[in-house]
Formats: sequence, structure tokens, C-alpha cells
Amino acid sequence: MTKLQRSHMGSVNCQKISVGEEEIDKNFWQSVKSLSEQKIERLPTKYILPPSQRPKLNEIFAQQTYDLPVIDLSGLQGDRRSEVVKAIGNAAAQKGFFQVVNHGIPEMVVEEMLKVSSEYFEVPLEERQKFMSTDVRKPIRYGTSWNQLNDTCFCWRDFLKHYCHPLDEMVHMWPSNPPQYRCVVACYSEQVKLLATELMAAMMEHLEIKSTSIQKTFKNGSQMMVLNCYPPCPQPNLTLGMLPHSDYGCITILLQDEVEGLQVQDEGLWKSVRPLPGSFLINIGDHLEVLSNGRFKSAIHRVVVNSERSRVSVATVHSLPFHVKISPCPELIDEHHPKMYRDTNFNDFLNSLTCSRFNGIRFLDSIKLYTT
Ligand code: OGA
Ligand code: NI
Repeated sequence: MTKLQRSHMGSVNCQKISVGEEEIDKNFWQSVKSLSEQKIERLPTKYILPPSQRPKLNEIFAQQTYDLPVIDLSGLQGDRRSEVVKAIGNAAAQKGFFQVVNHGIPEMVVEEMLKVSSEYFEVPLEERQKFMSTDVRKPIRYGTSWNQLNDTCFCWRDFLKHYCHPLDEMVHMWPSNPPQYRCVVACYSEQVKLLATELMAAMMEHLEIKSTSIQKTFKNGSQMMVLNCYPPCPQPNLTLGMLPHSDYGCITILLQDEVEGLQVQDEGLWKSVRPLPGSFLINIGDHLEVLSNGRFKSAIHRVVVNSERSRVSVATVHSLPFHVKISPCPELIDEHHPKMYRDTNFNDFLNSLTCSRFNGIRFLDSIKLYTT
């Protein structure tokens, strides 16, 4: 029996275990994957959410899964463009979440990306720890939960985040193990950037924004990739893989394996999204809600975990360049539609991340000029 297992059976409270005290404790703080591999039967106290924040899994799975629109992007190229643009715009305005198929990214690229993501979390912890940092401005960062320094409760998730654009300046910072990581991820990130650019163009078209300046800026904008790993969890009813949040960029493109876990808040209920093979899940982030002056919705979502299967996902968050001001498009402001948000940029968001706790005020709410 490991020392950690013993501690759960005895009187030792896990919250008392401090970082770096001994090897097993370090792992405990730095990787839920390592914790999961200890085959513990009970969740350490640090991961137990207050009752009001727990996922109530029995209730959720009794509900239906979330029927998200599935949009066939092949139509963007031909006569059906206006129809597809409308479907994208409506989905962005109504739920802020939709799925896309026939997106043009080769199956092989997608498969390799999922494979290398799983493999990354198999790399020895000592190696993953090299990227460990609580500095949210680091261009590459490995971590657990959301921000280990700030989080009162931990989430059941390990992650690797890094920038992808401009690729030639970023790629050498990425992990060199697994050996194919850089090559596979570079290829995927280029493809996914093209998809994001295409989606952004369709959304601007739907909003009838004639100027192409946002699109041009977006093309050269920030691209952040987040690899998420949610290992099997001994008591999934007591914790979450990710707390409720909205994404900060303009467009997030989510690739997930076949294991269910993502839930979207809809009409006060948490609804599960069933992964659709061959598709990507697209969601609107805070920046696009601001740019669209509230026409598009940055929806709140969270991740639940399970006791049986490990889950891997890759979220790629696309926005304007870091220091570019993000403000509602002037075309969308008039006497009936006042400016709804104050100007912001990526840097402001990072500041909010370092000062506030993750489960505190939502960034978007802090820049709203009116409450609706
Ligand atoms: C995220 C996110 C969802 C998932 O990375 O912001 O919401 O299913 N991920 O992992
Ligand atoms: Ni998210």
C-alpha cells in the first residue's frame, strides 16, 4: 500500500500535505494522472467541491444529451454559402456552441493529434514538470487543476498549454518528447488556424461587417492550444474536470476523444455533449461576444469526469493578437444597440486571471457596461 493510500484510511487530512514534502506528495499536487495511477479509492479532500458546486451526475445523466447543431462546412465553398453562413451565425447567436463536419482537416492529422496528446501525458512526470509554472504569461505551461496557486479546490485535470502562432517562433519551445510531438502539433495547429479563419469570415459575413480589417488582424492573431487530460476519478460525483467557465478568445475549436465529459449550460441545466466522430466542437469565446456587441454568445461550460475511462481533449483558442484592443464593432452600435462592453484585450484577461480566483467573477461580466 502506498503512503497516500494509507493517509486516506487513517486520520491524515490530505489538505495538510504540502508541496515538495516528499515524492508522493509532490506528485499528488502536480498531476492527477499520477494520483489516479495510485488507484486510490477516495478523493483527497483538496478535490472535494462544496456540495453546491458538485456535478449531481445522477440527475444529469437522467437528462437528455445536448442536441447541438451539426453544420456541414463543405457548403461554404459553393452556392450554399449563404445558407451555411446563416446556420453558423444562428448557432453562434443562440447557444454559442455547434459542431462542424466536412471541415477539411484530414482525418489522419486529427487522429495523430489525439494520439500524441494521450502520449504526452504518458511521458514521465519529471519531464512534464519541466514546464510547470504558475506564471500565466509563460508561452508554455504544464499544470494541474486551473491554477494550482490560486485554486481553493482542485479540479481533476492535468493540462499543457502553449502558444502556436507564429509557429516558427513557438515550435522549438514545445515538448521534444514524445519525439513526434512538434511535427504532429505544428501540422494540426496550422490546419486548425485555417479553419478558425474560415469560421471567423463566415461570422463577420453574418454580422454584415463589410470591413475586412478584423479578419486580417485575426489571421495573424493569437493561437493558444490546451491539451487536457482527465484520468479515471475514484469519486466523480464530488469533483469536476473543469469548473464552469467561458473561454476568453474569439473562437475555440475543441477536439475530443470518444469519451463524454463536456457539459454546456442551457436554460439553467447542464447538458452533456456527446462526441460526434469526425467533428469539431466550436464555441464562441468572450472576445467574440465583445466584438459582436453581444450578438454572439460566449456560453458557460464545464467538464465532468468518470471513474472508468481516461479522457483527452485539445482546445485551440483563437483571438486577435495579444495587445490589440478588442471592442464592439462600430457597425454594430447605434441608438438602439448601445455599446455593451468596455474595451479590453488579451492582456487584461491575463491580469484578471492572476488576481482573481477562477471561481470568482467571470471576466466578461467585469467588462459589461449594461446588465441584461
Ligand atoms: C477548455 C475546455 C473542454 C473539454 O479547455 O477551455 O472547456 O472538454 N475544455 O476538455
Ligand atoms: Ni472551455
